[in-house]
Amino acid sequence: MKTIEVKTNHPYTVLIGEQLLPRTAELIKDVCNYQKVAIISDDMVADYYLNTVVSSFSTDKQVFCYIFPHGEQSKSADTLLQIYHFLAQNQFTRSDLIIALGGGVVGDLAGFAASSFLRGIPYVQIPTTLLAQVDSSVGGKTAINIPAGKNLVGSFYQPARVLCDTNTLSTLSKVNFSSGIAEVIKYACIYDRSLFEQIQDIQHANMTDIITRCIQIKADIVCKDEFDTGMRMILNFGHTIGHAIEKHYHFSTYTHGQGVAIGMVKMTQLSEKAGLTQPGCAQQIIKLCQSVGLPTDCEIDTQTLFDICCLDKKNLNQSIHLILLKEIGTCLIHKLSHSEFQAFLNQSKDNQL
Ligand code: GLY
Repeated sequence: MKTIEVKTNHPYTVLIGEQLLPRTAELIKDVCNYQKVAIISDDMVADYYLNTVVSSFSTDKQVFCYIFPHGEQSKSADTLLQIYHFLAQNQFTRSDLIIALGGGVVGDLAGFAASSFLRGIPYVQIPTTLLAQVDSSVGGKTAINIPAGKNLVGSFYQPARVLCDTNTLSTLSKVNFSSGIAEVIKYACIYDRSLFEQIQDIQHANMTDIITRCIQIKADIVCKDEFDTGMRMILNFGHTIGHAIEKHYHFSTYTHGQGVAIGMVKMTQLSEKAGLTQPGCAQQIIKLCQSVGLPTDCEIDTQTLFDICCLDKKNLNQSIHLILLKEIGTCLIHKLSHSEFQAFLNQSKDNQL
C-alpha cells in the first residue's frame, strides 16, 4: 500500500493499493472518534461494493447507508436535501462521519453535504473510478449542479482520508477507464515527462504506481494553491475546450475525459501554431490518446467554442486563462483578453477546430 500526505490547512492521508475496501473500518479508525457512519453511494456502485464496506465495521459502530440513482442528474439540490433529511433523521452530529463511496458524482455531492450539514462534519472519500481516484477525490473541491450550470454551488472542504482501492477499477467499462486515463495523460503533460513515457504501455503498467504519481502531483499543486487562485489552474489543461465540447453536445456525446482528451490535443495544436509549444507535442498526445481509445477530434466551429468559453456566466467581462504546454512535462498559464482568445482560436483552418 502507498501513502501520500496532502499538506493542506487540514492535512490528510491518501492510501492507494489493492483490497482496501474490506479493510475500510481499520484504515479510517483514527480519523475521528465517531460512533455513527453514513455511507453515501449510488445504486450501481452500491451493488458492487456496499456490502464489503459495511461488513468491515464491527457492531460497536452504527452504520447507515444512503443510496441514490447513479448519474449526473442526481448531483442536484434535491438529492442534497434528501441527504440532509437522512442525516438529521438519524441524528448525526459533528463527531460522526460520512463516507463517499463512488465516482465523481458521489464524491462531489457527499463532500458538499459533509461540508454544509451542521456547518461541516468529517468525511472520507472512497473513489471507485479512475477519474475520481486521480482527480476529484483529492483536493477538497465539492459541488452540486444547478439549472444555470454544472458545479456552480460548492465549497472547498478537504476529506479526512482518501482510500483508493485499485481493485475497483476492474468493474469499470472501457469508456469509463479510458476517461480516467485522459486525466492521467493531463498530469503527464503538465508536470511529468517520465509519467508520459510510463503510460505509453498502460495495459502493462502498474496502476498503483500510476495513480500514486498522479495523486502526488495533485497534492503538490493543491498544497501550493488550495483555494484555486493561481497555480491550481494548471490542472485545467485541456478542460477549457473540453468543457465547451461536453456542453455543446449536451453532456451526452462525450464523457468528461473524452472532452479533456480532445481539448488537450486542440489546445496544443493551436499553441504550436502560435509558437508557444515545442512542435510535435500535439502529435505525441494524439498518438497516446488513440492508443487508449480516446477521441482526439470533433466537429465544432471556433465561433461556437468562443461563445461557450467566454459567454459563460462565470467568465463574462473577464479574461481567459489558457493552460498551454511548453513541451511535454511543463506548462504555462497564458492569460488572454477575449479578443486575443478569439484570434488564438482563429488560427485554425476554415473556422473549424
Ligand atoms: N479538478 C481540478 C481541481 O481539483 O482543481
